[in-house]
Amino acid sequence: MYLISRWNEDLKISWFTMILLAAGLMAGLSGCGSDESEYTGGGAPGDFSGDIERGPQLALASTRSMTIAWRSFESTEPAVVYWGENGLPSTRRGDRPGTEHVIELDGLLPDTAYFYQLQHDGRSVGEVHNFRTAADAPDAAIRFGVFGDFGCGCPAQYESIGVLKDSQPDLVLTTGDNVYYSGSAREVRQNYFIPMASLIDHVPVYPTLGNHDVMTGNGSPFLDSLYLPVNDADGSERFYSFDRGNCHFISLEVTDRAEDLAPSSQQYQWLVRDLQSTAATWVICYFHHPLYSDSSHGDGALLQIRLGPLFDEYGVDVVLSGHDHTYQRTYPIRGGLVLDGQMEPNYTDPQGTMYVVTGGGGATLYGLWRSQRLAAGESRRHVVIFDVVGNELNLSAVDYNGAVFDRMKIIKRVPGDGR
Ligand SMILES: [Fe+2]
Repeated sequence: MYLISRWNEDLKISWFTMILLAAGLMAGLSGCGSDESEYTGGGAPGDFSGDIERGPQLALASTRSMTIAWRSFESTEPAVVYWGENGLPSTRRGDRPGTEHVIELDGLLPDTAYFYQLQHDGRSVGEVHNFRTAADAPDAAIRFGVFGDFGCGCPAQYESIGVLKDSQPDLVLTTGDNVYYSGSAREVRQNYFIPMASLIDHVPVYPTLGNHDVMTGNGSPFLDSLYLPVNDADGSERFYSFDRGNCHFISLEVTDRAEDLAPSSQQYQWLVRDLQSTAATWVICYFHHPLYSDSSHGDGALLQIRLGPLFDEYGVDVVLSGHDHTYQRTYPIRGGLVLDGQMEPNYTDPQGTMYVVTGGGGATLYGLWRSQRLAAGESRRHVVIFDVVGNELNLSAVDYNGAVFDRMKIIKRVPGDGR
């Protein structure tokens, strides 16, 4: 009920978004109704001053620290000035002059709002931004948003971002295809940093790689522009995990180029270790290609064989994917079979994993059929919002009008039981 009223009453397209949309249309960006290959144009300028080439973006958020990254057009001595609501400003300077800037603010207070502004050579540039540190209590409420297949630089992407911003999430996950068409350096700026500017300045975003993102340099232009957790297998950000409250999030690289996930692979072995080591109440795994999909690309048969048993054994609660530009949610699945479907949509201790495809973030929608394992499915542009409070998880699929068109709840009677 809370979510319904919140979106119905509060969903607004801001003036800023409307200006961006108008500018995007004037630039001839009509392409969201056609093929993905058209999504190479840029959007309108976002929150950039004449000094800032991209960013700022938040990264590596924690209870007591926040990393702020941006790129300047000219070489400069960077700094961040930051302050709490009633506090005096502090200044954190970068290590060296240059154009790529990464500054960690540490010694912050948990669950606290901060403001910040960038400086170049001691001169304030851009707007005042804000963020909130994570709460310290392990059972603190967490809201996270998810969207995928959005990186087109098109008006629909701005709509997704607007809905995400209105929901005021603590963090955002993506399910890949963040940068159409080929993940080139130019597209990273045009289709990620410009459209995302008004989100990534105050919400930490944790993308996973999609097949389009890795077409250039195996994804290096995109990955080089982000500051994500690194895994301890190959030291890269291609797959990683992190905790927030009582949730453990795992991002895998599952694309055309890394789909086999053979048990001998570094990523598979890292995943097993990661699943074994977490004691979080909720385990959320996200990657691009789905195990189960009733749409164009269909099932990932090999993924079902390789990953399905791991998700079963270690009690992964929710698996999020993209790639098929639809919304799909299965009943709980274990061993390839639907379990506990009679509880739909309010589950208590379900014995299987919920598989969600959220690929309606901006690119052309696909059609879908409905197999018997599908609890809900729509060919509709949307984002997904999760609210986690202690042993209760709520999913809401929200369209661009703010309408919640699917809901699902899971309650765990024994928190921390791994499922
Ligand atoms: Fe894809």
